[in-house]
Amino acid sequence: MTDKTSQARVLIFDTTLRDGEQSPGATMTHQEKLEIAAMLDEMGVDIIEAGFPIASEGDFAAVSEIARLAKTSTICGLARANYKDIDRCWEAVKHAKSPRIHTFIGTSPLHRAIPNLDMDQMAERIHDTVTHARNLCDNVQWSPMDATRTEHDYLCRVVEIAIKAGATTINIPDTVGYTAPRESAALIRMLLERVPGADKIIFATHCHNDLGMATANSLAAVEAGARQIECTINGLGERAGNTALEEVVMAMKVRNDILPFRTAIDTTKIINISRKVATVSGFPVQFNKAIVGKNAFAHESGIHQDGMLKNAETFEIMRPTDVGLSDTSLVMGKHSGRAALRAKLRDLGYELADNQLNDVFVRFKALADRKKEVYDDDLIALVSDQETSAVHDTLQVKRLRVVCGTEGPQEAELTLSIDGVDHSVDATGDGPVDAAFNAVKMLFPHKARLQLYQVQAVTEGTDAQATVSVRIEEEGRIATGQSADTDTVVASVKAYVNALNRLITRRKKTAPDADVKGVSYRDAG
Ligand code: KIV
Ligand code: ZN
Repeated sequence: MTDKTSQARVLIFDTTLRDGEQSPGATMTHQEKLEIAAMLDEMGVDIIEAGFPIASEGDFAAVSEIARLAKTSTICGLARANYKDIDRCWEAVKHAKSPRIHTFIGTSPLHRAIPNLDMDQMAERIHDTVTHARNLCDNVQWSPMDATRTEHDYLCRVVEIAIKAGATTINIPDTVGYTAPRESAALIRMLLERVPGADKIIFATHCHNDLGMATANSLAAVEAGARQIECTINGLGERAGNTALEEVVMAMKVRNDILPFRTAIDTTKIINISRKVATVSGFPVQFNKAIVGKNAFAHESGIHQDGMLKNAETFEIMRPTDVGLSDTSLVMGKHSGRAALRAKLRDLGYELADNQLNDVFVRFKALADRKKEVYDDDLIALVSDQETSAVHDTLQVKRLRVVCGTEGPQEAELTLSIDGVDHSVDATGDGPVDAAFNAVKMLFPHKARLQLYQVQAVTEGTDAQATVSVRIEEEGRIATGQSADTDTVVASVKAYVNALNRLITRRKKTAPDADVKGVSYRDAG
């Protein structure tokens, strides 16, 4: 076995708060961004891309505060290839112990056509903007967006220009998830061979998952010499998402024999941060997702269960505890006290402040009165629910009563607190959920369209909690909400109201382009 310390070190660059947050509907609040950044820092992420400072006042404030608070991670901000973006980015990241400016421009024929720059004009722009960034900060990353569809000769030319202008990291994005592992490796190898000065900088890989090959492409790039992987928690990101942090890190750990690289990541923090990102982004993790899916360590078939009882290695290539899952089977019920709850939540990866614990404890007791056994997943749903609803939310569900059955129309009586004032209404609808949603619309009129309504049972049994996910859209703004309750209609209304609160936050962002999804990548000038 190779000595780990002699293995090549691969830097982990997490862009959950920038590329991940760009997924339609994944907008996070300022506080949520700070909490996720603290967790990334704590788990050993080398570089956190905290946002796109020019995109909005909110993004600027989040990047600045994350920069101030970061303990060990380098804090990076994104900037297009223009001085205004780069200056704004520097203003935000300069507070960090270790700041980085990441500037980019689309170099493929399709992307060059948009700002209408010819090859020479674009080369000049790259030289000028990277030089400008490097005059502000000694840690500069440059990305030729859509690198995998850029002509090889031109890619070599612009990478050389960026290196000469002072870029210390060159990121090679597969922006549209188009490449395949062999090609991904060949591209990095070609750049290392052909570009003068390539041995002096770090190559990074940034893969999108449109063909489901992002993780494989990232690892292939590393085998070819890339030494930074860009990724997100749960693979969050535009369209099919990005390389998932947990996948590349665990692949290098479990298959260290063929992927002999080391990272600084504490893998036992993976489950905790995965759950946090799923909750605040409103993007639940699919059950069969590698490493972090609910079924990743579940064994149902008789043969598998039998094998597991005899030797866990028969059907598990890593231990659940490696990623932070609990090994204990402390059963919680209505007689369990606060200390047991705290211990159980700690096992599940949640460290709650006293006031948060008090709130979860009250809700746990209420749940234990309704349900015989409270499973781990019930507790996770409770904590997640608490995390998504904030005391300062504009809308809060105070009371709901529904009448349903075979004889319609179904009815809902709802009391909603709007900006601290209680309002009540009676509504009818085609089913109890429709009636309750109509009541919300009567009390808080809006034009948002319901794009997704999804119910999942948290555990088994008719007394199981239901987790409801809702996605709404209003004039191009997308917001998601989630909630859990043993009463599916209550969970539905709370999820809907949670999505509306997020929409209200997004509406409050001032300028028309005051949102990261509203800033055009094209505006490179
Ligand atoms: O996918 C991409 O090309 C990006 C760039 C901004 C680096 O996210
Ligand atoms: Zn990207």
